[in-house]
Amino acid sequence: MKYFTPTSQSNLGVKIQDINLAKDLSKQDIASIRELWVNYGIAIFPNQNLTLKEYENFSLQFGSFGEEPFLIPMQEHPHIVKLHRKSDEEATHFGGAWHSDWSFQGVPPSATLLYSEIIPPTGGDTLFANTADAYDDLSNVLKEKINNLRCLHSAKLPYAKDGVYATENKKRTMKIHTSDEANKTMSHPLVRTHRETGRKTLFINPVYTQEIEGLSKDESDALLFELYIHMAQNKYTFRHKWQPDMLIMWDNRTVIHMAEGGYDGHERLLHRITIAGDKTE
Ligand code: SIN
Repeated sequence: MKYFTPTSQSNLGVKIQDINLAKDLSKQDIASIRELWVNYGIAIFPNQNLTLKEYENFSLQFGSFGEEPFLIPMQEHPHIVKLHRKSDEEATHFGGAWHSDWSFQGVPPSATLLYSEIIPPTGGDTLFANTADAYDDLSNVLKEKINNLRCLHSAKLPYAKDGVYATENKKRTMKIHTSDEANKTMSHPLVRTHRETGRKTLFINPVYTQEIEGLSKDESDALLFELYIHMAQNKYTFRHKWQPDMLIMWDNRTVIHMAEGGYDGHERLLHRITIAGDKTE
């Protein structure tokens, strides 16, 4: 196994080569991958050739499967969701705004894995932002102000019955189920401590974080907006460019991410798995 640590300012994204993820990996290999993944937020494995069963087996080395609300998984693989957009599709692409996967769950997933099958010739990159570096760089005054705050998260904006995915009238290939369940809220600390790295991170995102508890709506909106602008600066972001047969695994405790469009007229197909996480604190 050979790896290349990031050269970009964001400190995100380690490329891991000379390893066949279809094979049974040793405990030492898994431990090394885990260490690289938590330290660099995203582990990138180019040129993998996996069946979906082998993909599931690899994922399970990092914890049990997460719960997939709202997205209808593959019938034969109930823990795999197809992220599929056809070449003639007019609906907006899925996941196009900054978020941390399922942050509205009581115990949000630690890892998300994506395995690529069909990649458009242009566009369709995935962007990531480093929420640990973004926290470290805040002024002491701002850290002091946010350290003990909590936020309410919910899936309402995209997945409620009147949410974005319900009200879009263009035909979508991905099967999404909108529901009143999306209106439920869950409280998480704004500043989260990563269990494995011990680093503090900004656990907020504009898709699922609704408000900071205990502040007026205006104060909450203003503070969240200030933090989002800060987190999305170029110095914290990493642009992942896809190739077919690439597997990536990111840490939802350290990064937020968004999918970029720009590939109308071309097909894009990836398979997604989430891995159960730990309680936020
Ligand atoms: C997502 O899981 O949010 C989508 C990422 C992507 O399609 O690049």
